[in-house]
Amino acid sequence: MCGIVGFIGEGNVPRVILDGLAKLEYRGYDSAGLYLLSQQGQGYLFKEKGRIADLEKAVNHTLDSGIGIGHTRWATHGSATRENAHPHQSNSGRYTLVHNGVIENYLDLKTTYLSQVDLKSETDTEIIVALIAHFSEQGLSTKEAFKKVLDLIEGSYAIGLIDQEDPELLYAAKKKSPLLVGVGEGFNVIVSDAMATIELTSKYIEIHDGELLMIRSDQVTIEDSTGKTVQRSAYIADLDASDLDKGTYPHYMLKEMDEQAAVVRKNILSYQSQAGEFEIEAELLAKIHQADRLYILACGTSYHAGLVGKVIIEELAKIPVEVHLSSEFAYHQPLLSQHPFFIFISQSGETADSRQALVKVNELNLPSLTITNVKGSTLSRESDFTLLLNAGPEIAVASTKAYTAQLTVLAILADVLAENHDFSMAHELSMVSQAIERVFAQKEELNSWVQMGLNEVSHAFYVGRYLDYLVAMEAALKLKEISYIHTEAFASGELKHGTIALIEEGTPVIALITDEVTALNTRSNLEEVKARGAKTFVIASDSLAKEGDFTLPQVHPLLTPIVSVVACQLLAYLATVARGLDVDKPRNLAKSVTVE
Ligand code: F6R
Repeated sequence: MCGIVGFIGEGNVPRVILDGLAKLEYRGYDSAGLYLLSQQGQGYLFKEKGRIADLEKAVNHTLDSGIGIGHTRWATHGSATRENAHPHQSNSGRYTLVHNGVIENYLDLKTTYLSQVDLKSETDTEIIVALIAHFSEQGLSTKEAFKKVLDLIEGSYAIGLIDQEDPELLYAAKKKSPLLVGVGEGFNVIVSDAMATIELTSKYIEIHDGELLMIRSDQVTIEDSTGKTVQRSAYIADLDASDLDKGTYPHYMLKEMDEQAAVVRKNILSYQSQAGEFEIEAELLAKIHQADRLYILACGTSYHAGLVGKVIIEELAKIPVEVHLSSEFAYHQPLLSQHPFFIFISQSGETADSRQALVKVNELNLPSLTITNVKGSTLSRESDFTLLLNAGPEIAVASTKAYTAQLTVLAILADVLAENHDFSMAHELSMVSQAIERVFAQKEELNSWVQMGLNEVSHAFYVGRYLDYLVAMEAALKLKEISYIHTEAFASGELKHGTIALIEEGTPVIALITDEVTALNTRSNLEEVKARGAKTFVIASDSLAKEGDFTLPQVHPLLTPIVSVVACQLLAYLATVARGLDVDKPRNLAKSVTVE
């Protein structure tokens, strides 16, 4: 979702901001803009609907400036137009502002304070900048006006603000939406994700909700909501600039799918003790053992990982687990057990729906763990414990390596929680890692399926039972979100209870068969849809495969999802490439969903 890059100090300001915005493209956006201010107080505003490349062409790169703010907008209030693109300015042009988030009470504020102001866009953001100008015109200093507005607005925000009358000061604030300060030599930046400016600096300072920051080229002042100065040291972001490069791969998604075997191995190593056993912080284990029920909360792909995680934990550790969508849980809490323990799963660690649920959990003073790819992310900071996914940055909007890393870490957690079982999880996971490599090497077989029809259809179905059904849900999400083929997942046994009515001549039905107990039942269900015209495809474990199936190497039965999903990810990728669509940046989607 929206991305912010602001810069103050020595450097090529437009270049730094545009390069930073380009690295935030993965978050999803539909327009972009940039404001530059010279030392003499001359301001320049550029905005374009569409891609950063369009903005790049519009910007005059020779302008002299020492401060600037840039933004990529993912439309919420008002469509994706040039007028609605950020930065937004007050009518006099004195204040210029970028915003990520949603201001829930913007219409009330407009009516109360701005009935006489001529607003130019349909956005909630313009209200913020117009209000700052309004209070400044009433005699407040810029800082006082900004602070007053922060007290008035409700919702979520990350804001960068420039006052034309003070080109040596960049203001920033955040609540619920992500924003960091990057600290450099002779410059400072504000940025939604350290990844965007990691080539400039690896030193970052967290901003906490409700704080107000005044940033100069050589100084960062943080004030809490009472106006008290806060001292906070910078941390070193553990990111490698080369992780952000797609190298020789045509798409980030392909690179990230190919990295999955290595990510599984990395997790084996990072959670293994010297003795070769998996180990997890004792305090976390003690808290989980005190719980009578685990509640996994997540969204999208991470939710699908949670569903598989429930099975692995219940099977191995014998602890009951419930899995809920964060967006549902935040407002309609189920009846909780006596001693609940919460597990948040989030690749980004910034998802607003999950964060909202965590706020509720914290209000109830209940213990929680976040399983995330991003150290220092909001969910990680605000929960009691964190387990990292060690997947490296995931740039493609469609999550792949984060999902397999989530399953790996959940399997490791289940292994450590289990009293005893008769296999070595480390060994089984290393078999999984090898199996992923083999699936990846066989991808041309899946391309032939694409040519057999998946490049042309509008609807498709994934079916499976038990763990295969749970993977089918993720497989269907992957196919629909990037290829735009309307794909649904069904528990095979449910087909006859209604959904078989959807089968028409040529409808693709892809079955996942890795479970020995239900393999024959799913085969029978496939015959039923075939008899009604469906074109069937099967992804099956070696021991259950038949001629024509895509064969998966045999792995431990509880770990089959980490392997079978790779074939489904590849199928989604290949179908999308065949349809000539943008694999890494599918329409309407954002990588980090920072609004509820
Ligand atoms: C789909 C996808 C999304 C995310 C969801 C949660 O490919 O990436 O469904 O899984 O938006 O995001 P995180 O895991 O960052 O909380």
